[in-house]
Amino acid sequence: MGYVNRLNVYRSVRSVIKLQRGELMRYNILKLLRERKSFVSGEEIGEIFDVSRSAVWKSISKLKSEGYIIESVTNKGYLLNDTVDILNSFEATYNINTEFIGSECFYYNEIDSTNDEAKKYAEKGCSEGAVFISELQKNGKGRLGRNWKAKKGENLLFSIVLKPQITPMEATQITLVAGISVCSALRKMTGLDAKIKWPNDIVLNGKKIVGILTEMSAAIENVKYVVVGIGINVNSENFSEEIQNKATSLYLEGKKKIKRAELLKCTLSEFEKNYKIYLENGFFEPFSEIYKQLCANIGKRIKIIYKDKIIFGMAYGISENGELLFEDDNGNKKKALSGEVSVRNENGEYV
Ligand code: BTN
Repeated sequence: MGYVNRLNVYRSVRSVIKLQRGELMRYNILKLLRERKSFVSGEEIGEIFDVSRSAVWKSISKLKSEGYIIESVTNKGYLLNDTVDILNSFEATYNINTEFIGSECFYYNEIDSTNDEAKKYAEKGCSEGAVFISELQKNGKGRLGRNWKAKKGENLLFSIVLKPQITPMEATQITLVAGISVCSALRKMTGLDAKIKWPNDIVLNGKKIVGILTEMSAAIENVKYVVVGIGINVNSENFSEEIQNKATSLYLEGKKKIKRAELLKCTLSEFEKNYKIYLENGFFEPFSEIYKQLCANIGKRIKIIYKDKIIFGMAYGISENGELLFEDDNGNKKKALSGEVSVRNENGEYV
């Protein structure tokens, strides 16, 4: 596991308490190489950080073992090839433009579920905005008790701890705010026409690309903490036969590999911006219109499956609380409450 307390990362070695000395050294060297964009000699790096050239060489070797591509040329020094997709707690927070989301960042090579890990830390009192990322989940959780499967090293799997002063009923609105944020980040980063399938799947060309699972701990009146878990199919080149008609990835749709750390930071930044608006207003209403614009269901026939009841209708809007507004086949105007229903198109298909 790697841990970064972002506030401390780039200060002098001595002021850092959360990063081990070796880790701090190599990420500072990485930062230097990234900013210079040209060869930097081992001697100069050693002088900057007050260490020997062999200590510099060791840090460079460790960075290479983490997947970074660094060219070493005699008499010139080291040059970073910054095109590789690497995810770790340094990359997840490097130059991030958020105030508190990602102020603590935990990275794992593998874990059961980032949501479960986030909940453990939330119980222990981690700060609001703490982010938990994993390359692989052994027991990734989806909605309605399903599993969330994603291949190692290709996707974004992360959870955010939040401590909003809201009622448990209102917590579903945070999932909708997260949906808008992820959708906006995908559109910004890729230019693809990502849409939200109400309440909180993100879809591209009728296939699922993002799943969001929100869990919380609450008393009757107020929420203790909320964990928003997000799984984004980023660079997957294929899916199993079982789901290939229902799932897709940004790579399959856009034909370009994406740097996951950049997408993560863009998503966290979009989310923080929207989350603050949500908290300032105290309700979902400021997002109803933008949600409607991004919603794949609007203007389409839908089939609402609610427990063992099935209703057909036409989706036409989003209420000020984030409910899906639809007109049933008898002309009655109805609202579907997030979390209660499963929406399918009229043929019963996913979108
Ligand atoms: C869904 O069923 O659509 C929701 C899927 C949510 C998956 C993400 S991946 C990161 C986080 N950790 C989990 O165990 N689940 C969520």
